[in-house]
Parts: sequence; structure tokens; C-alpha cells
Amino acid sequence: MSAAKIPQLVDAHSHVHQTKFVYLAAAFAALGGLLFGYDTGVISGAELFFKNDFTLSTFALEVIVSGVLAGAAVGALVGGRLADLFGRRKLLIATAIIFGAGAIVCAVASSAETLILGRIVVGLGIGLSSGTVPVYISEVSPANARGWQVSLFQLAITVGILLAYVVDYAFAKIEGWRWMFGLAVIPAAIFALGMLYLPESPRWLAMRGRSEGARSVLMRIRDASTVDAEMRELEGTIRQTKEVGVISDLLMPSLRPALVIGIGLAIFQQVTGINTIIYYAPIILQTAGISSASGAILATAGIGVVNVLMTVVSMQLIDRIGRRPLLLTGIAGMVVTLGMLSLSFRVSVQPGMLAWAAVIGMMGYVASFAISLGPIFWLLISEIYPLKVRSSSEGLAATFNWGSNLLVTLTFLSLVRWAGASRTFLLYALFAVAAWIFSYRLVPETRGRTLEEIERFW
Ligand code: BGC
Repeated sequence: MSAAKIPQLVDAHSHVHQTKFVYLAAAFAALGGLLFGYDTGVISGAELFFKNDFTLSTFALEVIVSGVLAGAAVGALVGGRLADLFGRRKLLIATAIIFGAGAIVCAVASSAETLILGRIVVGLGIGLSSGTVPVYISEVSPANARGWQVSLFQLAITVGILLAYVVDYAFAKIEGWRWMFGLAVIPAAIFALGMLYLPESPRWLAMRGRSEGARSVLMRIRDASTVDAEMRELEGTIRQTKEVGVISDLLMPSLRPALVIGIGLAIFQQVTGINTIIYYAPIILQTAGISSASGAILATAGIGVVNVLMTVVSMQLIDRIGRRPLLLTGIAGMVVTLGMLSLSFRVSVQPGMLAWAAVIGMMGYVASFAISLGPIFWLLISEIYPLKVRSSSEGLAATFNWGSNLLVTLTFLSLVRWAGASRTFLLYALFAVAAWIFSYRLVPETRGRTLEEIERFW
């Protein structure tokens, strides 16, 4: 082997190592998404059984089910701010510990009050994770792979939901609701250990004036030849910002368009009805005429699988064709499939046909969401805000997302009872039309641009 080839080989080797390291960082952080998905999904199965062990008023039951969402809204708001002040990594370690503690409290709860407390703690964990994980991944990823790496968060959410369905199913026979809640301790422990090993975000370090720290992190996660250029770009942005922003900075005029986009997408992601399907699919399917519980559960698992697979498809495309085409195509698909669902509950067809139309409509709808509003909402809110208030603003958008989730979840069954399934889905279809127009007019393309370029764009 010629001497000239040796350095090349060493270079190639270290490049592979660094690329792998950044994958590892993204994958471990995404465990926060897995816990988010698992802990929101697990309740539908567990609920059937803890009801038998405690005397619960309807209100107590509602608080147990929705307490997570309220906790998450608060967690996202507080966590985003804390991640700007104290760093992404510390917040993520705290998040993992909170997830673990919440799981244990739920698993050993001997009263409804303790269970409520446990679920609120879990909710805080979910909120913290949704306010910090996307930003952390976005800040460690290279620009040309940021799309799919941040989408790992959404992929982990969908896998977490699926895992919850499987665990619920497996423990249903022994009515093992304590296991259902408690098993979340395992991913929480892996998440904590992973984050102890992983570095702080180089962008946050640079913002806190720790340029040397930022450079040494970049040396671990990048090809050495690109580090100088990235540091120059980073320092250029920081020269203009210097300090961590204060809350009132969120209202500065230059931030307004980004704030509107983040909050708008947060609301649209929920009011187009995704969680009526994720949380209530078996009930909807039974309304459509699938009479056996196991048939409904099987179809629900099928929806979970479609959700995971289509998220993978989205990840393949997102850095190649960009955010906007995927977002607009997916939302258009949501409009069509929601319309189809609405229609299938309206026209009087034979029950068997209605069930099929509902299953196909729901699968098509989840597939459309999974390539668009699912991952792209979380991705955009990790990209579009300036560094000095990035996590605070992302957390604010996430808070609106959880608030809207709570609203839709609490009103869905009453809406169906009051206006019928057909009109309810028609309402979500109209919201999806509004979401399409909103995205078409306001959402910028961020593919391939560095976070610093996006920041200068505003
Ligand atoms: C949403 C969740 C939803 C999940 C379904 C996420 O992007 O924020 O509310 O349950 O997608 O896959």
C-alpha cells in the first residue's frame, strides 16, 4: 500500500466513526420519543383493568387519562425554557429520570390519587421530551441529514405507540396493568445512560461562550475537515446574539412569522384529528360495524404498523425532496381520507362495507399524516427558531400541541354522540383544508440549509 493511501484510509475510518456517533446521539435522544409514544398509547389497555382495582368516579378516570396531556403541556413549556438556560443534555437526563420515576409510581400505586400523581409525572416527562429532543437532534445533526435524523423522534413515537399496543395485549390476560405502566422503566434507564455518555449540543455550548467545548464536540461528531467552517458559521450567529434570550424575546417582530408557523402547525397537527384515531380506533371501528373486540384490536394494530412504516418512507424522502412537497401532499391525502371517512358514515351501505371503508379510510389517513404533519411538525419547530430562544420557542409550540390534543381528546366522543361520526370527520376534514392553505402560504423550505442560514433568513 502506498504511503499516500494510509492517511486517506485513516480519514475514511474516522469519518465513518464520527457519522456513526451522530447516529447514536440521534437514536438515544429519540428514546424520549419512544417513551412519549409508549406512555400515551399504554393507557387504552391499562384503563380496562385498573378500573376494577380502584373505585373511580368518571371524573377521576378522565383525570387519569387526560392528566398526562395536561402534564405534558406544562412540561413542554417549562422544559423548553430550562433547556435554553441549562443545556439540552442536562434536561434530557432529568427527563429520563422523571419518566422512570413516573413509571414506578404508576406501577406500585395503591390508590387512585397515587395513580393520578404518577400519570402527571409521566406527562411532565413527555412534555420535557417533546420540548427538547427535536432541538437536541437538530443541533447535533449535519444539515444534509437533519430531516431524517430529527424524524427519528417521530419514528420512535410511532414505535412506542405500537409497543404499547403489544404490551397491553400481552398483559391483558393477567389484567397486568401495573406491568403495562412499569415496563417503561426499561427504555427510561437506557435513555438516561445514553444521555450520560452523549455530548452537549455544540450550538448551545457556543451560545454560552464555550467555543472550545463546542469545537471538541464537533470534532467527535463531524468530519474534521468541516469543523472550521461550521465553527465560523456558528460564531457568526452568536456574535449577533451573545446571551440566552428572555421570555419577552419570543414576541420580537423578527420572530413573529416563525412563532406563527410553529404554533399554527402545532394546532393543525391535532385539530385534524390524529389522536381520535390513535386513542379511539377500536371504538370507531366498532361504530362502523366490526363487532368483535379482537377484530377491532387487530385492525388497530394494523393502523399502528402503517403509522411506523409510512414514517420510515417519509424519512427516506425528507432530505431529498424537501419538507414542503411532503407536507402538502400528505395534508391533501388527509383531506381526501377524512372526507372518505365522513362519507362512509353518512351513506347507508351494508355494515360490512362500511367497516371496510372505515378501515381503509383510517389507514389512508394515518399514512398521509405519517409522511407529513407527524414528523414535519416536530422537525420544523426544531429548525425555524433562532438559537437564543430555540428551545423556549419549540417548547411553546409543543405546549400548544398538547393543549390542542387535550381539547380534541376530551371532546371527540361527545362530538360523535351529539353530531354523529360523519359530521365530526367532516369538521376535521375542513381543518385539514385550512392546514393545507396555511402550509402552502407560510411554511418555508428548510431542506439542506444550516440552522444558521435558516436563522439569517428570518
Ligand atoms: C403527535 C401525537 C400523535 C403521534 C401519532 C405525533 O406527531 O404529536 O399527538 O399521537 O404523532 O403518531
